[in-house]
Amino acid sequence: MSEERVVSGDAQDTDEQQFELSLRPKWLREYIGQQKVKDNLSIFIEAARRRGQSLDHVLLYGPPGIGKTTLAMIVANEMGSEIKTTAGPVVEKAGDLAALLTNLSEGDVLFIDEIHRLSPAIEEVLYPAMEDYQLDIIIGQGPSARSIKISLPRFTLVGATTRAGLITAPLRGRFGIPLHLDFYGPDDLKVIALRSASILGVHLEESGADEIARRSRGTPRIANRLLRRVRDFAEVRFDGRITDEVSRDALDKMEVDKYGLDEVDRKLLSIIIDKFDGGPVGLGTLSAAISEERDAIEEIYEPYLIQIGFLNRTPRGRMATRRAFEHLGYDYPPTTRSIDQGSLFGE
Ligand SMILES: Nc1ncnc2c1ncn2[C@@H]1O[C@H](COP(=O)(O)OP(=O)(O)OP(=O)(O)O)[C@@H](O)[C@H]1O
Ligand SMILES: [Mg+2]
Repeated sequence: MSEERVVSGDAQDTDEQQFELSLRPKWLREYIGQQKVKDNLSIFIEAARRRGQSLDHVLLYGPPGIGKTTLAMIVANEMGSEIKTTAGPVVEKAGDLAALLTNLSEGDVLFIDEIHRLSPAIEEVLYPAMEDYQLDIIIGQGPSARSIKISLPRFTLVGATTRAGLITAPLRGRFGIPLHLDFYGPDDLKVIALRSASILGVHLEESGADEIARRSRGTPRIANRLLRRVRDFAEVRFDGRITDEVSRDALDKMEVDKYGLDEVDRKLLSIIIDKFDGGPVGLGTLSAAISEERDAIEEIYEPYLIQIGFLNRTPRGRMATRRAFEHLGYDYPPTTRSIDQGSLFGE
């Protein structure tokens, strides 16, 4: 389901991936927002460059579409290094990782996306590689098995994850530079939309950019996607220029509301309000009630709803806040009528 959502943070089809590639900033100075992250990173990069050393290992964590892969590429560019890319679920055997590591050259960046999905056995191989640039591998089996050590070039591991909580402590502890990327504010998203429009040669007015920025759920990928859809709309229905009116019209037609919420978000909140009187509701119950995977709820829908103050995560479950009630047009505090009606109609 999340695949079809206009406001999903996840990358969608290959068409979109091509599109993103053309908009991806290549240097730190083109990377918009995340000022603290950029400030820190630029100091570490500069220091490593001056010493002629490789950069310490970097862990990037934050929600989908927020610029983790982009930043990994930028790190390699700024260091003047090659980047080799893989992902947690792809590295199945210790040998796969050994092959990757032994193919690196001095100063290379190894980017492991979805690093929380590495198996424990693979993580074990990674520890000495990260710490001492050593690979300990066992060849053979039974009594003739022996362990050999291979020295690796000094490389930089860049790991990315949407689920920092799923990274084991020993792995997390081996990253010298952990960086948390958070949702972007509307001002930064506006600059991102304007930048993308100028690359694409689209006439985007400031007010049109504001409208897109507000509805992008704090996520650059969504800002770019909305821009693309609004552009289609502007070309077919109007004269191609994106004004605030065109943006608003297009986004309303796509049912992306003024907070960037779509049908699924609204359904999630209104079920908590209607069926559970505002909560608390356990994640499992909620997942069954809206037919969405628990993981998708935790990873995709919730973080933004929590960020804008529509949802609270409590030890007893999820609760809709007053702002959510008001945005969806419910009375607050909830009247018990909603529950009575529910049971009356056997829902
Ligand atoms: N700070 C930024 N400035 C400008 N554009 C950005 C920025 N961050 C991300 N983008 C744009 O958003 C798109 C998505 O970013 P990216 O692929 O790096 O996200 P991600 O965090 O790796 O997502 P995922 O979790 O799905 O892997 C990029 O193509 C890029 O154009
Ligand atoms: Mg990525």
